[in-house]
Amino acid sequence: MTAERWQWWRDQTPALEKRAYVNTGFTGLLSNDVAQAMQRRIDFELAEGWTTKAVMEEGRETRERLTQLFAQIFGADAHEVALTTSTSLGVSSVIAALEMSEGDRLLTSSVEHGAGAVPLYHSRMVNKTEVEFLPVSANDSHGEIAERFVSAIDERTKVVGLSEISFSTGQLLPIKPIVEAAHRVGAIVVIDGAQTGGHIPIDVRESGVDAYAIPAQKWLCGPRGIGALYVSPEALPRLQPVLVDMSYADEWDLEGTFSPKQDVAGKFQFSAVPPILAAGTVAAIEQYFESGPQAIWDRVRELTEIAERRFEQIDGVTIGSAQSDQSRSGLFCFRAEGIPSTDLPAYLQAEHDVVCRAVRQEDVVRLSLHAFNNEADIERVAQGVEQALREGGVPAID
Ligand SMILES: Cc1ncc(COP(=O)(O)O)c(C=O)c1O
Repeated sequence: MTAERWQWWRDQTPALEKRAYVNTGFTGLLSNDVAQAMQRRIDFELAEGWTTKAVMEEGRETRERLTQLFAQIFGADAHEVALTTSTSLGVSSVIAALEMSEGDRLLTSSVEHGAGAVPLYHSRMVNKTEVEFLPVSANDSHGEIAERFVSAIDERTKVVGLSEISFSTGQLLPIKPIVEAAHRVGAIVVIDGAQTGGHIPIDVRESGVDAYAIPAQKWLCGPRGIGALYVSPEALPRLQPVLVDMSYADEWDLEGTFSPKQDVAGKFQFSAVPPILAAGTVAAIEQYFESGPQAIWDRVRELTEIAERRFEQIDGVTIGSAQSDQSRSGLFCFRAEGIPSTDLPAYLQAEHDVVCRAVRQEDVVRLSLHAFNNEADIERVAQGVEQALREGGVPAID
């Protein structure tokens, strides 16, 4: 059944027809189902007009359904989820919402994306807090990473900000022991889930995290411009959103009456959710659940192992992503000797119809292997890299 499902997904993803698209970790591909769901909503708005009862009601129902579906992804309840525009907005909103003072410590890892790191630096600038990057390498064991965090967390620690899968090493990080240590000193743990939503089965109850942000546009293969933020009921009372709109108010009037929402994650929902994008994201998440979260997670790791075996045979290639069963994900990273990693993706796209990206921080080329990718995609990249090595390099990009 699963092999058929991956083929079905391929068949209804037009952008896969002529190229090896292995860049889901940057932005995933729209399938026909997802595009048609958005088209239906556009047609409805076009035919009826945005503020007609039917169009507005459908918009509200779609938003509610979307919140439910995101909650299902997190393993949470709908009132614990806010719709956002991106992972970045979710992570940043939570870090800014916690009261902090001079000398407080914010911990993170050395394999984070700017979306996680920059809000911590912002807090350092505004609140005179301290930001510490604990070293993490691709092949560190979960035990080693957890131990490093557990021993660094102390009474001054207010926030631990972490990716559950690093965008630069592709490694799955051990969240739960870090959350337990953080909670012992009253710190909150904010997860950058840009690389996990739609990629791994998430379970916020099991890990106990305080906040978890994911996007629609990467592994869920939804449109750009939608994301979701989970906030735990325990963390909610300690967090005051910095930016609010009318939906923050439970009750208000123009004579001084005001009571804010407090115990729902919806207090972080800032600005309206475009119904066209919401319709596409609902279809994308349905496609994800119909495919099977565990089946996707198993298949992407299988593809990464296939890539590891194939690239190990290429002279001059070193693998840069996590290779243990504990840490491996669908992100596969490598370096080709003598070829700047930042130049290789442009060459692969121009000469071999391969779409991937470089990650400057680790000086690697990164392939995102989604369940709809296959062995032929990996082979196409491998042959492109072999050719580049044979030819002694690739043109430099400007
Ligand atoms: C780990 C990580 N965090 C955050 C982002 C940014 O995500 P978004 O565009 O949803 O804010 C990305 C990718 O662009 C990422 O890989």
